[in-house]
Amino acid sequence: MDPSELNRAHWDALAAVHGQDAYYDAEALVSGRDSLNEYESAAVGDVTGLDVLHLQCHIGFDSISLARRGARVTGADFSPRSLAAAAELAERAGVSVDWVEANAMDLPSALHGRFDVVYSTAGVLGWIADIDAWMRSVHAALKPGGRLVLVEIHPIFVMIASLDPLVLDFPYAFDGGRAFDEPGSYADPDADVAATKTVEFGHSLGEVVTAAIDAGLRVDALLEHMDTVRDWRGMLTPEDDGRCRLRVGGEILPQSYTLRASR
Ligand SMILES: C[S@@+](CC[C@H](N)C(=O)[O-])C[C@H]1O[C@@H](n2cnc3c(N)ncnc32)[C@H](O)[C@@H]1O
Repeated sequence: MDPSELNRAHWDALAAVHGQDAYYDAEALVSGRDSLNEYESAAVGDVTGLDVLHLQCHIGFDSISLARRGARVTGADFSPRSLAAAAELAERAGVSVDWVEANAMDLPSALHGRFDVVYSTAGVLGWIADIDAWMRSVHAALKPGGRLVLVEIHPIFVMIASLDPLVLDFPYAFDGGRAFDEPGSYADPDADVAATKTVEFGHSLGEVVTAAIDAGLRVDALLEHMDTVRDWRGMLTPEDDGRCRLRVGGEILPQSYTLRASR
């Protein structure tokens, strides 16, 4: 099967189980909890009155949170079940968001030139076979002067399957795609997920930044985050200062990064 169809089936299956776990706490979201983390919040800034495209929005947690922060939000994803779950959550939360089924590598012309911010975070690029096409789509969706906010898992962290023993099962840079067939979900390892086969793609920091520049974006900042507030992938070490760090051989590696770029 085409990798894109395999991955869409996987995300449709994940959408059917997400929102019933502590990772995606739907009740808390509906009752008003904001879902952006500290790095997402800092990078996106004040969105009051802005047109925001939440690219690869999944079940819409951040779309709903951005709308509550005063943005006019469009959530785009290629998984219809994700969008259906997102729409249901938004309705329960009493928040208005437009939902669009679209491939992030080829956004429809109806979305072109419309957004002050394209916001995309936390596990988005690993599904993208063509990072140049993804960046061209972002560029096309932005108004002149609009900005991309990408907060993503660091490619070094994505490589690590286990820390003790140290096992790497993913390339640092693009190598054409790796096939996986793993049960469960990152949100709930015990979840019964109906479609488990995926094809995932490595993108090094250099490849991501170069793709942004080649698409015509100006890179405004590239921040590598060395700590975070919670152990969000089950591999970080909680430390005495209340922060969690990715420690390998005693040294700290980056766990996520923020790329800010503008058209
Ligand atoms: C890890 S989730 C994003 C998580 C999101 N930030 C959140 O907090 O819920 C990745 C999303 O990317 C979507 N996706 C994967 N490949 C895509 C593509 N080519 N076009 C559009 N959406 C895609 C999936 O359907 C999924 O909803």
